[in-house]
Amino acid sequence: MKYYDKLVFELSQKGRVGYSLPANRFPAAPELPVELRREASLDLPEVSEADVVRHYTNLSQMNFGVDTGFYPLGSCTMKYNPKINEEVAALPGFTGLHPLMHAGLTKGALKVYQDMNNFLAAITGLYAFTFDPCAGAHGELTGLMVMRQYHMMRGDLKRTKVIVPDSAHGTNPASAAVCGLEIVEVKSLENGRVDVEALKPLLDDTVAGMMMTNPNTLGLFETQIKEITELVHGIGGLMYYDGANMNPLMGVVRPGDMGFDIMHLNLHKTFSTPHGGGGPGSGPVGVAEHLVDCLPELRVSGFHGNFGVILRAYAYILMLGKQNLKKVGQYSVLSANYIKECLKDAYKLPIEGVCKHEFVFDGLINDGAHDDVHGATTLDVAKRLLDFGFHAPTIYFPLLFHQALMIEPTETESKETIDAFIDVMHKIAAEAVEDPRILQEAPHGAPIGRPDETAAARNPILKFKDAQ
Ligand SMILES: Cc1ncc(COP(=O)(O)O)c(C=O)c1O
Repeated sequence: MKYYDKLVFELSQKGRVGYSLPANRFPAAPELPVELRREASLDLPEVSEADVVRHYTNLSQMNFGVDTGFYPLGSCTMKYNPKINEEVAALPGFTGLHPLMHAGLTKGALKVYQDMNNFLAAITGLYAFTFDPCAGAHGELTGLMVMRQYHMMRGDLKRTKVIVPDSAHGTNPASAAVCGLEIVEVKSLENGRVDVEALKPLLDDTVAGMMMTNPNTLGLFETQIKEITELVHGIGGLMYYDGANMNPLMGVVRPGDMGFDIMHLNLHKTFSTPHGGGGPGSGPVGVAEHLVDCLPELRVSGFHGNFGVILRAYAYILMLGKQNLKKVGQYSVLSANYIKECLKDAYKLPIEGVCKHEFVFDGLINDGAHDDVHGATTLDVAKRLLDFGFHAPTIYFPLLFHQALMIEPTETESKETIDAFIDVMHKIAAEAVEDPRILQEAPHGAPIGRPDETAAARNPILKFKDAQ
């Protein structure tokens, strides 16, 4: 253990101080009532300023983030977060605002919402957006409520079903269930796309609509999308587009033109704002012109959503401009296909062909298994990557494959970084053949090895004394 792996509590020395408060310039405050006064002093560590700074700096480096290394997590778009976004969001004219301020004092913020509405409408081909939802799943719920409202306003109360492909992101059926809709699953074909022949018999006048992601969660473009939207519209249903991962399509093709009526975007993914660990997010919902009256009248969140996230996305769009937004799509697709083609000699590629911004391997081609030795799994590959300074891709999702390894490089990584990742993935594949235990015992250099992730999430130990 290195000396500074110790925590501040262990470094504490009685009487050591790391700060001094300025003299109090204010008149003495009224005394606190006795029952509110602390009886014993707080048991805080007594350390120097340098020790505190080192403590927090070292703690921050025990975690992996987009600012420390390549983060090819699929279906999550952990991309570079431009620092200029932070500067824009921190401008005092924005941070000093309060949602209850008089409209005359908030004109700048209102212009941001108006501009964002116009930008997103231009990018998606939809008509109007609400910025209230604070996450992708929150956007899905809001969008499905719009769908229900549309049918209710027409007095068509029997439409209680929503069709969801078996490859859908888990939040899709979850949001539909929360919205009180019955979920009907439609299967995918061997090529990963929705099976249109299996969809046809599911369509009747009890269907409120269909939710789709395009590209789907396998990173594949749904080539029969026009036919699907026409079929669903033909029976009076609406099409919902999960635009969480819109980056490969920006400036190339628009959900509105594909026939979608309602959609959400994840500003905290496609539009570069930092996320992870549960937030903050922003999942604006857009609708076609004929649904504007169905947008929520009452807010679905406090005030106007996560303004700070919206501002960061605004800065990102302005920074790129129309031409470069298109390049986001092109480069993210190029990077994903390059990695796929370079690695398919060592990892199983269940669906051949051009992918969009992400793709899925189904484990190693040769995992090193013999009669007497188990082979390396996708989890082992993911853990071993940490030893080389790369975050793992998404693993065991989507559920269509047993050893899913879902890779999304994004458009913002250099060719050198991507090549380094490819080299390491080849090296890991070679290790699996030589000695799979190297992978099975990984990570070898991380602060912790293989925690029980469920227990860690359900019963986190947050206090130093509990950890002892
Ligand atoms: C395709 C898709 N839909 C929906 C979501 C949900 O977004 P959020 O995590 O912001 O609720 C995600 C997030 O990973 C996603 O990838």
